[in-house]
Amino acid sequence: MPSSGAGSGAASFSVTLIFLISFISTSIAEIRFTEIRSDPRPIIAFDEFGFTHNGRLELNVSKLAFSSTEPDLSKLGFFLCTRDSWLQVLQQIEDNEIACALQSNIIHEVYTLNSIEKGAASFNHFYLQSDADQYTLVFANCLPQLKVSMDVRSAMYNLDGKSKTRDYLSAGITVLPRVYFVFSLIYFTLAAAWVYLLYKKRLTVFGIHFFMLAVVVLKALNLLCEAEDKSYIKRTGNAHGWDILFYIFSFLKGITLFTLIVLIGTGWSFLKPYLQDKEKKVLMIVIPLQVVANIAQVVIDESGPYGQDWVTWKQVFLLVDVICCCAVLFPIVWSIKNLREAARTDGKAAVNLMKLTLFRHYYVVVICYIYFTRVVVYALETITSYKYLWTSVVASEMATLAFYVFTGYNFKPEAHNPYFAVDDDEEEAASEQLKLEDEFEL
Ligand SMILES: *[C@@H]1O[C@H](CO)[C@@H](O)[C@H](O)[C@H]1NC(C)=O
Repeated sequence: MPSSGAGSGAASFSVTLIFLISFISTSIAEIRFTEIRSDPRPIIAFDEFGFTHNGRLELNVSKLAFSSTEPDLSKLGFFLCTRDSWLQVLQQIEDNEIACALQSNIIHEVYTLNSIEKGAASFNHFYLQSDADQYTLVFANCLPQLKVSMDVRSAMYNLDGKSKTRDYLSAGITVLPRVYFVFSLIYFTLAAAWVYLLYKKRLTVFGIHFFMLAVVVLKALNLLCEAEDKSYIKRTGNAHGWDILFYIFSFLKGITLFTLIVLIGTGWSFLKPYLQDKEKKVLMIVIPLQVVANIAQVVIDESGPYGQDWVTWKQVFLLVDVICCCAVLFPIVWSIKNLREAARTDGKAAVNLMKLTLFRHYYVVVICYIYFTRVVVYALETITSYKYLWTSVVASEMATLAFYVFTGYNFKPEAHNPYFAVDDDEEEAASEQLKLEDEFEL
């Protein structure tokens, strides 16, 4: 890839990225508390959950109050609805077949408010869902002008096969604690192998190699906490197990990974012991943005897909992520450019050409990694059935693992550094190749 093409490549890549990331389906399932105050919305969505044939929904509503005195309570109620059937309901309403979503025959009615005792301001309801599918819990208010206030506690879970224990994770992600745990073991193994390698090649170890070790260890710890956090949610429906640790490690992991890509991209400690000003600026942009990204991530996780600011924070997160991904590409492009110029002028064509090839590969691999984990994974998430949502997590973790292994393998400490041991024949061949490249502008 030519150095001039690399810059515009980064730009068009980021545009594609923004366009391709459309709507992301999440199904975080926890026990949720929602406060609704004087809300006139005709439809209020709460949470989405993938049920198995043994699904349960617990609904506890309290502090129920309305803006008018004697509303027709049969026009207010909770129901479960899949995304597909929701479109059909909208169609039915448009065709005037029904006046209110609650009258539709394709929804699963959970509770209409006319069943509460007269004068009561709260109710508890238990609902069995045996049609396996992914449903959204929705409240419909079919009385225009009526404002509703209430506190809603909703808990959706499946009962596990024989043991009948509650599983608060949605059907497609219930295996995730195990998946994260297995990956964290793999990273701990990689970290151990890396320590061994550093010890064996201790004479040729650079500072960056210790930094790489830190990145791998943080990734392993992050996965371990994520496994524990998810398994805590699975058992209790509550997100407050190791979630703080998890957020801390994702934050550190995010910062160190992006910093590592920038440092390798600039050739820091391989090619030169210091960073230039513009390269430092990239780091000064990326690190604060990672702070913002992590705050956004926390808000996104805590509020759930129908929370009030969810969409805004999701957009903040995506924007910041895209900027970080593009920013880390620039130092690599600069290095490629510098190496190309050096190869022409300083007479050590072969040495520079080898570094150049390495950096070009690295550039392509970073792009593939970013593209895969940001775009392909989200595409997978949207097209796979709710039952196989975990596959997109596995795909993303596999891609990440491949990226870590590639980086480690290509920039490992070497006793006989190929950069500096080059004989005359190779030197000649390299000069030839450079001339060829110049002629054809490869
Ligand atoms: C919520 O409702 C369910 C189903 O009626 C009931 O078993 C449970 O005890 C209630 N929980 C609370 C906190 O009121």
